[in-house]
Amino acid sequence: MPEHESGDSIPHLSGYREAELDQAFAAISREVEASSAALATPEAVEAFRLQWLGRKQGRLKAISDAWLKSAPVEAKKLIGQRFNTLKAEIEQRLEHAEASTGSSALDSEAIDITLPGTRRKLGAEHPLIRTQNELIAIFARMGYSVGIGPEVETDYYNFESLNFPPGHPARDTQDTLVVSGQERKPLRDRLLMRTHTSPVQIHTMEEQPPPIRIVIPGKVHRNDAADATHSPIFHQLEGLCVDTNITFADLKGTLDHAMKELFGSSVRTRFFPSFFPFTEPSADVQISCPFCGGSGCRKCKYSGWIELLGCGMVDPSVFGFVQQKQPAYDPKKISGFAFGMGIDRIAMMKYGIGDVSLMYSGDLRFLEQFA
Ligand code: PHE
Repeated sequence: MPEHESGDSIPHLSGYREAELDQAFAAISREVEASSAALATPEAVEAFRLQWLGRKQGRLKAISDAWLKSAPVEAKKLIGQRFNTLKAEIEQRLEHAEASTGSSALDSEAIDITLPGTRRKLGAEHPLIRTQNELIAIFARMGYSVGIGPEVETDYYNFESLNFPPGHPARDTQDTLVVSGQERKPLRDRLLMRTHTSPVQIHTMEEQPPPIRIVIPGKVHRNDAADATHSPIFHQLEGLCVDTNITFADLKGTLDHAMKELFGSSVRTRFFPSFFPFTEPSADVQISCPFCGGSGCRKCKYSGWIELLGCGMVDPSVFGFVQQKQPAYDPKKISGFAFGMGIDRIAMMKYGIGDVSLMYSGDLRFLEQFA
């Protein structure tokens, strides 16, 4: 009888007496022994397993089908006992072979269920996004909504409509990264990376009539060399409020309140004359140093004050540009203020971050501190 065959090659039982059964099972047992003798590779072990224990084609199943099922009731118990012994013998040989060839499923996967599980790290808000959300929440409580605008802008929205005419020296204060291949277009249509979020003031007003109260967070780009306090990509939060009878006092009150919310109620603000082409009058805002309370320290360069943002009353000429699309922005009837602040700088102050490049490094040792 060929060794590696199953099913129909099962010998017939000569009878159901114990001696006859013992003889028949002994013959199978010798067969098992022979076929398990030289199992040297995991593949051979697997073939042995299939040959004997395979659920459909296995020889054990064939034996059970041939001998057990058709046996008279009295013989079933005797056959069953011998069948179980045979099965145990096969399993034992299999185990041995698996151990000696290193082919056990458990071995190869090496799962140690006593080890602690894999800890899945929870994500954390990036300090920039966290600061941005904090700022948005402060202005949301004062009735401001949130807008966004494109990072690739036209010269018209980034400069001209904000009252920076072509060739105006104020353009030089924002070192601009321009999109290449734009020379054939008229200047106003040429694309560039926005240098500030202020162009979104214009988009917003062109899209909706007054009143407006909106903050606009977003990425801006300048061709600046990177150092500890400069990054060619950084973030701003723009603010715009337009309504009837909006005055400089509203601007001062709004920003003073926002800074107190952000840095604590003991923080004071002061406004210095400044210049932006799209606001008149314009101001730079300083806050009393939140680190030393104003007495002077390294962080405020011993001045007691830290400059944080630019702002001013919307220049009537800006309303003039907007009126080409929204006549309701009539500077004789409405007025407004705008402000812009650097989110990176505020985040650095709030969280004691000394180098802006950390914000863009993706270094987990930095980010994990905010988890
Ligand atoms: N856009 C200005 C800047 O980036 C900041 C600013 C915004 C000033 C709004 C006044 C009003 O420097």
